[in-house]
Amino acid sequence: MQIFIDSADLAEIKEAVAIGVVDGCTTNPSLLAKVGRKLEALIPEICEVVNGPVSAEVVATDCDGILKEGRALAKLHKNVVVKVPLIVEGLKAVRVFSKEGIKTNVTLCFSPTQAMLAAKAGATYISPFVGRLDDLAQDGMELIQQIVTIYDNYDYDTQVLVASVRNPVHVTNAALIGAHCATIPFSVIKQLASHPLTDSGLAKFLADAKKNAGAV
Ligand code: G3P
Repeated sequence: MQIFIDSADLAEIKEAVAIGVVDGCTTNPSLLAKVGRKLEALIPEICEVVNGPVSAEVVATDCDGILKEGRALAKLHKNVVVKVPLIVEGLKAVRVFSKEGIKTNVTLCFSPTQAMLAAKAGATYISPFVGRLDDLAQDGMELIQQIVTIYDNYDYDTQVLVASVRNPVHVTNAALIGAHCATIPFSVIKQLASHPLTDSGLAKFLADAKKNAGAV
């Protein structure tokens, strides 16, 4: 499964890339606001750090406006993926982007029918938000399973990019279902590698190695 970092914080993106498990990056207007950076300036900087697709989101909500913004974003770097909200105007724009060879990440997906329409429009990635569904006591991972099943049934090329990931269980279940990618906050990426039994086991090994230092 491809792991993308869900962040606009260049310092933590660099730290995550240094671990060697990051295949791409996703940003959105809220993540940009958290770091107070301008999209057009930050995206090229992220593209120089991350060797893979970098999602940059438009803020227009009409087809022509999305096309204008998306074409400009696509020119920032060859790895830019234009992020488009899953609305009718967005689907119209995705169909045009698909014909123009501009990669798209259709975001704010919360239903299997939305995901099906995004695939029919030619989206490169679909971003179902599992955490926000869980927040409403719905099963976000059930949506992922439904989308993967529908995409397999009709051999759609769109890649399932699990988003709104809140914990390692989301990552495990996304991989068990067979999602292509998951975009993960840095705090969760760090959790993926750690386990208390690993830490305690290592401490015991090191303590015993120290005790045994004088062995012949
Ligand atoms: O990529 C989408 C992600 O940033 C949304 O996460 O936690 O705001 O639902 P969250």
